[in-house]
Amino acid sequence: MCGIVGYVGDKKAQDFLISGLKRLEYRGYDSAGIVTVSEKGKATLIRAKGKIAELEKKLAKNKRDDNVGIGHTRWATHGEPSEKNAHPHQAGSIYLVHNGIIENYKELKAELKEHDFKSETDTEVLAALINSFYKDGKHPLVNAVVQALKLVKGTYGIAVVSVLEPSELVVARSGSPLVIGVGNNETLVASDASALVGHTKRAIYLNDGEVALLTKNSIEIKTLNAEPVSAKVEEIETNLAAIQKGGYDHFLLKEIMEQPDSLRETLRGRVNAENGTVRLGGPGLSEAELRKIKHLIIVGCGTAYHAGLLAGYYIEKFTPEITIETVIASEYRYRDAYIPKDSVALIVSQSGETADTLACLREIKKQGIPTIGIVNAIGSTIAREVDGGTYVHVGPEISVASTKAFTSQVIAMVMFGLTIAQAKGVKSSILTPYIKEIAGLPEEIRKVLDGSVETVKKIAKDYAKYDHAIYLGRDVAYPAAMEGALKLKEVSYTDANAYAFGELKHGPLALVDDRFFEVALVPDGVLLEKSVSNVQEVLARGGHMIVVTNSDEFDLPVESVVKITTSMKLFAPLLMNLVMQLLAYYITVDKGYNVDQPRNLAKSVTVE
Ligand code: AGP
Repeated sequence: MCGIVGYVGDKKAQDFLISGLKRLEYRGYDSAGIVTVSEKGKATLIRAKGKIAELEKKLAKNKRDDNVGIGHTRWATHGEPSEKNAHPHQAGSIYLVHNGIIENYKELKAELKEHDFKSETDTEVLAALINSFYKDGKHPLVNAVVQALKLVKGTYGIAVVSVLEPSELVVARSGSPLVIGVGNNETLVASDASALVGHTKRAIYLNDGEVALLTKNSIEIKTLNAEPVSAKVEEIETNLAAIQKGGYDHFLLKEIMEQPDSLRETLRGRVNAENGTVRLGGPGLSEAELRKIKHLIIVGCGTAYHAGLLAGYYIEKFTPEITIETVIASEYRYRDAYIPKDSVALIVSQSGETADTLACLREIKKQGIPTIGIVNAIGSTIAREVDGGTYVHVGPEISVASTKAFTSQVIAMVMFGLTIAQAKGVKSSILTPYIKEIAGLPEEIRKVLDGSVETVKKIAKDYAKYDHAIYLGRDVAYPAAMEGALKLKEVSYTDANAYAFGELKHGPLALVDDRFFEVALVPDGVLLEKSVSNVQEVLARGGHMIVVTNSDEFDLPVESVVKITTSMKLFAPLLMNLVMQLLAYYITVDKGYNVDQPRNLAKSVTVE
């Protein structure tokens, strides 16, 4: 997802713009740019293809003391990554940065004959449209922005400056997040609160359909229909340590290793192991409403989808007569799916901004189904549009590959399931084992991480050479295997796919040869023997297998075994997932790829 920053205040705008864009780098981008405007109305526009370091090289020769400006990191949608397509885009006296997609940009462009288009972007069309109403300052900038946005179809988060009004910044959003930082004699704006950390703790989250006129000591928010909006100032929860690497080589390893602590934050005040109860206040459903639930729809993309699949396996084990449907948001939003009454929808999203997931939320709400958010980013769009919700509180997840959020999303949803089961009167003898394991999980995660890092680091060296991988699991280990495959795929670019162990003989077994290595999850328990015989099927075809197991009985002569020592029975697959996270990390390090910002990917996909 692109990044936006903006500044108006007493300090040098260039300093905040660059530092703010660096905070947003983790979201993935392919070009960047800033523009500042002097008091006398002189603009200094600097743009570069590639990383912010390229921008800084140009900036060194263009230092300015200007006090207003905007900046952008671009993840190309319309138009290839290049300097001419990088934001900010200029039209007459104005400069604009934009996140989102202007769907009717072609029709709008056809009407803007006076503008000499230099880029292939939809954003430049928006800049030209605003300028067509601005008429070089005959109308206030904010009015020109409003008039233009009324003609726009699509999504946007924008920041606009004009050389004719050099002490103002105009921002607006519809579908792409913007947060305003309230400072002392300075007002900041960013597409993600992490850019504001260290500058201010006071934030205003703009809502869809709102436009704000910012100066260094005023913030005026209105709707597109000029209705005044009273700004709600909230506290930015995060701190600098949370968004820095803390001594690790990469955010990905930091976020894998901090899962004991991040899960503790998810559980805080919600699990009572002593009396074997779970209490989730956020969903906001009464005991009666919980008792009535007959159907759960769990909606997400990527890792969030896998979290929903895994949580669904657990919930149906301890909650009677509930059907559970876990769906991929980008598919579900276009289905004509019937939603039974007495349903509740869990909307799962780390960023809370994923376009497909947000679209599903809005569709499901139209059908009057209660929606519960399982979200990490405080104040995000999904978090603000659901009927109720449970923040997972894992802190900022910077690496594009989601790790700590996955573990906490699964447990948060399991806790929601336990909340339903408690309301339905399910015997405590069934629920208590889950609750006790959940309470003990952070410590078990610590033990497994400490006990497997060196083993996995060594194993990774033997498997980094492969371009293909098969991940295998049965029952609750199958969605865990899917997540493991996604992790390896998205950071190491290995062609990794997961299959249910039982599916092997229905086709995937044909793949097994020296091009592939296999990762097999073999949890202890009732299905152990079945999984062991599946491992034998692969072994018999010369498979290069890594088996991850917590069973003392496993003794087949596979190439590599990662033994997990744990008292956990129920949540062993979540512990196995830690091993797969580490495997993906170390294989990627061995391959020398960009661990935190994999090619082609973004941390939050706010476009379809
Ligand atoms: C996970 O490692 C990926 N980065 C990606 O699949 C991600 O889970 C997906 O885009 C959903 O993001 P969200 O949780 O922020 O909605």
